[in-house]
Amino acid sequence: MLETIEKHIRTIEQTTLSTPEAAEEFRIQYLGKKGILTALFGEFKTVPNEEKKAVGQALNALKTAAEAALASVQTASPTKKKGPSEDYSRPGYSILPGAHHPISIVRNEIVSIFERMGFAVAQGPEMEDDWHNFSALNFPPEHPARDMQDTFFLAKDPDWALRTHTSSVQVRTMETQKPPIRIIAPGRVFRNEAISSRSHCVFHQVEGLYIDQNVSFADLKQTLLEFARAFFGEKTEIRLRPSYFPFTEPSAEMDIWWGLENEVDHRMTKGTGWLEIMGCGMVDPAVLSSCGIDPSTYSGYAFGMGIERIAMQRFQIPDIRAFYENDLRFLRNFTGAL
Ligand code: PHE
Repeated sequence: MLETIEKHIRTIEQTTLSTPEAAEEFRIQYLGKKGILTALFGEFKTVPNEEKKAVGQALNALKTAAEAALASVQTASPTKKKGPSEDYSRPGYSILPGAHHPISIVRNEIVSIFERMGFAVAQGPEMEDDWHNFSALNFPPEHPARDMQDTFFLAKDPDWALRTHTSSVQVRTMETQKPPIRIIAPGRVFRNEAISSRSHCVFHQVEGLYIDQNVSFADLKQTLLEFARAFFGEKTEIRLRPSYFPFTEPSAEMDIWWGLENEVDHRMTKGTGWLEIMGCGMVDPAVLSSCGIDPSTYSGYAFGMGIERIAMQRFQIPDIRAFYENDLRFLRNFTGAL
């Protein structure tokens, strides 16, 4: 039986199937219901046990060879079907181009502006421990942000939570790198807030951190002015309002002059003409110490902004929920945007 099989394999190797008719004949002859392979597999039952392995392997080789011979003609000359594919006047299918998500568009632009100023991109985990999200950042134990109402704690271990801001990446970076440090950290953050048109429980921030010798508030102000002009336009004016964050001292909120010409401006700026963009300040010396950096040698600044807010303003999107609904009618508006 082995010899018969090998003979068939040799025959197949020498066969060229040039027409679809020849291929079909070949298929029936070898692989058809009453074909050679079916017969040989039937005979296989009678092969003595000690020969079964060799015969079995040969049989499989024959089957593979027959199938390969057939496949080669099928790919070389696909059988033509009559039908719409032959109607060359038929209009083509249009391929819809994809689009970046508006959050990605704004994030990429912010990141690239800071990259041009020499900032490197840093990352941290979305699940954080109490130390990186709160303690190292000088949050006192009774701070309201540590309350279940503001933070998603992980049920099994109250030491762990979904990070409430990207400031945790500041801590991770200072713990692992030596100054000078100049990083930008874009990422997703989570807060236990009621969802409305203005706020969501999941959103995105971009964090910035600069640590070196003799870093001053003037450096912070100039960097932010540079950013505001690159992002919002050359003539943009900024102002810094005193504010409070546990991890910066002094702290400020940066606004840009938006204008107060029409009803939309009034609504967007709550009647002031100024649009709040980010929180910032000089890194509190206590935070530097917590992260192993000597505050008597080094100083630094940090800032953090919400991407959704900026994207809503840039694209005139009135409802934050639109970012997360994945409605194609919304997302297709951004085709072609960078
Ligand atoms: N982490 C602050 C927030 O989420 C923003 C901030 C970052 C403020 C860095 C100052 C410095 O509101």
